[in-house]
Amino acid sequence: MKSQLGVVGLGIMGTGLSRNLGRNGYALSLFNRHLEGVEERVALRAIDTYEELKSARGFDDLTSFVESLDTPRIIILMVNAGAATGEMISSLVPLMSKGDVLMDGGNAHYLDTVERENILRHMGIHYLGCGISGGVEGALNGPSIMPGGSLEGYEIVAPILKSIAALDLNGEPCCAYIGPGGAGHFAKMVHNGIEYAEMQLLSEVYSVLRWAVGLTPDHIAEVFKGWTNTEAASYLVDITLNILREKEDDQWVIDSILDSAGNKGTGAWAVQAAASFGVPAMMITAALHARYLSGQRHIRIHLDDITRKQNKKDASLGTTDLFNAYQVSRLINYHEGFAIIRAASAQYGWEINLSQLSAVWTNGCIIRSAMMNQFTSLWATWNDELILHPYIKGIIVSGWSSLRRINHVASSETLFTPCLVAASQYISGASLRYPSANLIQAQRDYFGFHGFKKIGDRSDTVYHFPWKKD
Ligand code: 6PG
Repeated sequence: MKSQLGVVGLGIMGTGLSRNLGRNGYALSLFNRHLEGVEERVALRAIDTYEELKSARGFDDLTSFVESLDTPRIIILMVNAGAATGEMISSLVPLMSKGDVLMDGGNAHYLDTVERENILRHMGIHYLGCGISGGVEGALNGPSIMPGGSLEGYEIVAPILKSIAALDLNGEPCCAYIGPGGAGHFAKMVHNGIEYAEMQLLSEVYSVLRWAVGLTPDHIAEVFKGWTNTEAASYLVDITLNILREKEDDQWVIDSILDSAGNKGTGAWAVQAAASFGVPAMMITAALHARYLSGQRHIRIHLDDITRKQNKKDASLGTTDLFNAYQVSRLINYHEGFAIIRAASAQYGWEINLSQLSAVWTNGCIIRSAMMNQFTSLWATWNDELILHPYIKGIIVSGWSSLRRINHVASSETLFTPCLVAASQYISGASLRYPSANLIQAQRDYFGFHGFKKIGDRSDTVYHFPWKKD
């Protein structure tokens, strides 16, 4: 009896996904590398530990693992992105045959996926870069799955992926073919960029409520609790309020955690991708750089001594303003994310269906939210930038003044709210009929003779001005 599919890599995510597959009745082969004294008998131990895996077969020899699989072989890689994934693919491919399907369920860079898919296609192997979101819990109980790459390969594995995915509001699996090449990993990367900004926004709202309004973490949790029955409801709001309620030895757990945020690189990739397509992504960039600044703790402590400020509480600051500011900022964040995907999709010819992608993001993933449900129907009938949609216009009209008010208070209290500021500035920059870029054009022409166009002149004429008088 051969196994239906194989999982390579039994870290936390790989084990969770294997247990999910096992629970759904698949005959599995599990492989984990053997590293003397570090990783030994990992697959066999997982099989001994988890009930769902008791009928699985464990290997630490790659050849026997591949030979244990039914053909066409289906293998899911759950190893670290980067060199580890590349090395594993190089070891696996000589053991595989034409028609087999190889999926990468890690957070690979989409350009690596484009290249790998291209090479393996020429060898007759179907390669899929599968974005998988939902953390440990998602992998175990139902993640959101974003497969991209070989469509033929996808058709072979779709029933499996769909059976282990989370379900959307209509009971459909949160798994859909995103597009060819690196489309799946690109979508996951942008998901993470959006995730960074959503997390940063919540931490900024928390800091305004904590330090400008003067609420305790418990009270702030109550404010967030009130949002869970509104359009602001999301998985990240849920976990944030749970975090804020936790105490240990009579102290808030949040107050014992070092304020220095980590990252594994996908947010930086999203910002790099936005820049490479010339798409403004001020919020995602602000969120990423906020993490970097938080990491420079020695500088922050030094400057805090120099700029020591007297924060006075402003209890009049309404939570309705905060709610409106938060919602309008989230929309700008989503607009940025979808705009990056639209640009990549156009450039690579991926034809990403944003309604389908939104549906995939309605459950199982980290950015699942009430707002994402709206996007599923919105994108079904909209083929332009999100920010131009009438639904968004309404939220900007109702939320922007609140956002400016919050930013005013935050800056006079010297709080750090770069994402809220970026959202407001995005709206300013995106809505000015005569922004200050005319001065930039003049400067470019002054020192570099780069030329400029004139207002009202629809021709292609490039003008220069004799700026230097001597
Ligand atoms: C998910 C998450 C996940 C992400 C980690 C680490 O969708 O399940 O986005 O894939 O990679 O949470 O992210 P950072 O370490 O960069 O915060």
